[in-house]
Amino acid sequence: MRQLLDEAAKGGYGVGAFNVNNMEQIQSIMEAARETQSPVIVQASRGARAYSQDRFLYHLMIAATEIYPEIPTVLHQDHGNSVATCKSAIDMGFTSVMMDGSLMEDGKTPASFEYNVAVTREVVELAHAKGVTVEGEIGCLGGIEDGHGAGGDGLEHLTDPEQAVEFVKQTGVDALAIAIGTSHGAYKFSSKPTGETLKMDTLIEIHRRLPNTHLVMHGSSSVPKDLQDIINQYGGKLKPTWGVPVEEIQLGIRNGVRKINVDTDNRLAITGAIRKVFAEKPEEFDPRSYMKPARDAMKKVVALRMTQFGQAGHAKDYAPIPLSEMIKRYASETVAV
Ligand code: G3H
Ligand code: 13P
Ligand code: ZN
Repeated sequence: MRQLLDEAAKGGYGVGAFNVNNMEQIQSIMEAARETQSPVIVQASRGARAYSQDRFLYHLMIAATEIYPEIPTVLHQDHGNSVATCKSAIDMGFTSVMMDGSLMEDGKTPASFEYNVAVTREVVELAHAKGVTVEGEIGCLGGIEDGHGAGGDGLEHLTDPEQAVEFVKQTGVDALAIAIGTSHGAYKFSSKPTGETLKMDTLIEIHRRLPNTHLVMHGSSSVPKDLQDIINQYGGKLKPTWGVPVEEIQLGIRNGVRKINVDTDNRLAITGAIRKVFAEKPEEFDPRSYMKPARDAMKKVVALRMTQFGQAGHAKDYAPIPLSEMIKRYASETVAV
C-alpha cells in the first residue's frame, strides 16, 4: 500500500479503500477497478474476517489477483484492534494493516496517547520487517459498526494536530487516519455538514504540519440520497441522514488525503438493489436473481468513487513492488516518514 499511496501523492489523487466480506463485493470492486483502470485497496474488518472464516477471504483475494493481474491491488486489514490481529493478517498474506490503537483492544474505549504509540510502534516494527505497510489512527471517529467504535457524533475525540506530528515521529507509520468529525455507518450528520461538524480546517492544519504523511479519511461514505430513497421506496426504514460530500473529500485530497475508506455507500447500494427485486419480483427465489443486480449496483458506486477520487486511469502507471523489495527499502530507511 505504501507504493500505491506514494504514487497517489506524486499524482495528486486519492485511492478508495473498499470493504469486502464476500465474493460479490470483491467482484464489484475488481470490475470497477478494471473498468476505470484504477489501482485499488481492498480492505477487511475483523468482522469480515470472522464472517468469511479468513480462508474464504484469502482465496477470494488470490482469485482477484489471478483474474485481474493488471490491477495493482492491496489487501488491507481495516481497524486492527491489537498487535495479534495485525500479526495474523500479515501471516495470512495481507500487504497492509491498520493498527487502530486510538481505541483499546475492546474496539470501544478511547486509549491513551502512550498506549497508542506503543502498540502502533510494535506493529510498525513487525510489519516493516515483512515489507508490509502500516496505517495508524490518532483521535477517534464517532459511531459504532459491528461493535467497533467510540460511539458519539464524531466531535468528541478530534485529532489534535500537534499530537499527530508527535505520533508520526514516534511510530514511523506509513499512513495516518485522523478524526475530523466523521463517523462510521449511515448516520454521520443530521443535516448537510458545515465547518462546525466536518472539520476540514483541522485536516488542512494537519497536512500543513505533516506535508509528507499520507492522510486517511475514515467514515467517508457520502450516503447519497438516491441510494437511501431506493431502500425506503422498497420497504426500508432509513431515517433522514447526511454523509461526507464528495467535494469535501476532494478538498481533502488536495490537502494530503491519499486513502479514503468507503463501506456504507456500498452496503446501501447492495441492500437497495436486493429490496427492489424482492418487491418487484416476489416469485423469485434464485439468489442470483438479486445478487447480480446487487453486484452491479455496488460496482456502479465504486467506479463513480474511483473517478471522483482521481485514481481512475492510474492502474498502469507503475509495476507493483514485491514485498521483498519493500523489506529492503524499509531496512535502508529510504521510505522516510
Ligand atoms: O470500520 C467500519 C467498516 O465499515 C467495517 O464495518 O466492522 O461492520 O465490518 P464492520
Ligand atoms: P463508512 O461507514 O463511512 O463507509 O466508513 C467506512 C470505514 O471507515 C471503514 O474503515
Ligand atoms: Zn474506519
